[in-house]
Amino acid sequence: MSQPQENKLWGGRFTGETDPLMNLYNESLSYDKIMYGPDLTGTKVYTEGLNKLGLINDEELSKIHEGLEVIRKEWEDGTFKEQPGDEDIHTANERRLGEIIGKNIAGKVHTGRSRNDQVATDMRIFVREKLKDLSGKLKSFIETIIKRAEKEIDVLMPGYTHLQRAQPIRWSHWLSSYATYFTEDYERLQQIIKRVNKSPLGSGALAGHPYGIDREFLAKGLGFDDVIGNSLTAVSDRDFVVETLFWGTLFMNHISRFAEDLIIYSTAEFGFIKLADAYSTGSSLMPQKKNPDSLELLRGKSGRVFGELAGFLMSIKSIPSTYNKDMQEDKEPLFDALTTVEHSILIATGVVSTLNINETKMEDALTMDMLATDLADYLVRKGVPFRETHHISGECVRKAEELNLSGIDKLTFEQYQEIDKRFEKDVMESFDFEVSVERRDAIGGTAKSAVLKQLKNLQSQLN
Ligand code: ARG
Repeated sequence: MSQPQENKLWGGRFTGETDPLMNLYNESLSYDKIMYGPDLTGTKVYTEGLNKLGLINDEELSKIHEGLEVIRKEWEDGTFKEQPGDEDIHTANERRLGEIIGKNIAGKVHTGRSRNDQVATDMRIFVREKLKDLSGKLKSFIETIIKRAEKEIDVLMPGYTHLQRAQPIRWSHWLSSYATYFTEDYERLQQIIKRVNKSPLGSGALAGHPYGIDREFLAKGLGFDDVIGNSLTAVSDRDFVVETLFWGTLFMNHISRFAEDLIIYSTAEFGFIKLADAYSTGSSLMPQKKNPDSLELLRGKSGRVFGELAGFLMSIKSIPSTYNKDMQEDKEPLFDALTTVEHSILIATGVVSTLNINETKMEDALTMDMLATDLADYLVRKGVPFRETHHISGECVRKAEELNLSGIDKLTFEQYQEIDKRFEKDVMESFDFEVSVERRDAIGGTAKSAVLKQLKNLQSQLN
């Protein structure tokens, strides 16, 4: 006669053996064991809730709590022994608790609870803590950029559109542009943490708690700000995973653009920056090479995080209410994305704090044609409509080219007069990069005062 499957939480109604490959296919312990901490804390607080209901007495409660601490220590020390029947972290911890304090007491901890509300609780605690940690790391990354920008405020370089030289800007203005993206990411993160931090615990498998557990008590004990107001949603909502993945994707997207700019700036052709050896690698064949691998990986890994978002969205689209095993597929992409983002922030911080800039190369890349707009603005200040001045300035550029001059500053005053009588002697003063930059002092512009103000505002957004 067949025996029930004793070593499984759900083994009671089963008589047939599980296909060994099915066991492998089904297990999640290999990756969800990193949530052992939230899982044990969840059980600790949950059993306090059961104790309040009189379902577990005080003596049992303290035995359970002692047992949970033993298990925590085993995980911390790496001595926890996984068993073949341990399907996931919840199963493993409960099995071990039974071994330590006896099945009679351990068998009570799951009263009214399901792995459905349990896993959702563990995940939310885990993600909340990770996001808080990321938030601190992101803040120091942004502050590293801000400090650098303040220090190198006097350095000018070309600003680009279409990757063509456009107008002179401050190097710090460029730095501040990315600090602005990253500060938005920082703000978005604080908003997401709020939505993650809601408690599903006490929802049972789907229909709610049969003994009227105090869900607000559970939420408070686990550091949640709120409880999820519908038990069906509580067990099946993975929006917090999607949002976290989306957040990571957008952040990595910003990082990839940042990295791409720096890759371009580090080429011999540009030579604006030099990466520290700590963030570069060599070629196995060409001895002279120093490659910006850190930046290329920042750029490349952005694709990986986006893939994780897209993949998981596909996994959960169209799944029926409420818990379905498809949802176990949330963990690997989420954990990987969190690690990738964390490492990327740390690497990017290292890159920014150690790279060297070459001021001379940056300033040598500024060419007079980049002041053609300033020349048009010169006539605007003399009362000529911009549409007309744009045209006149274009003529000056063409003339200088025809005469094979190195730039519009090399045309003589007489030649300017030939083009338009309204040019006066002071036109020659337009050909100054510093003057051009300093004119752009409206909010957000590249003048020193405007850039310093941007940096100050970003810092206060972070505080
Ligand atoms: N390991 C499972 C997961 O991560 C836990 C929930 C299992 N629930 C169930 N009804 N089989 O999703």
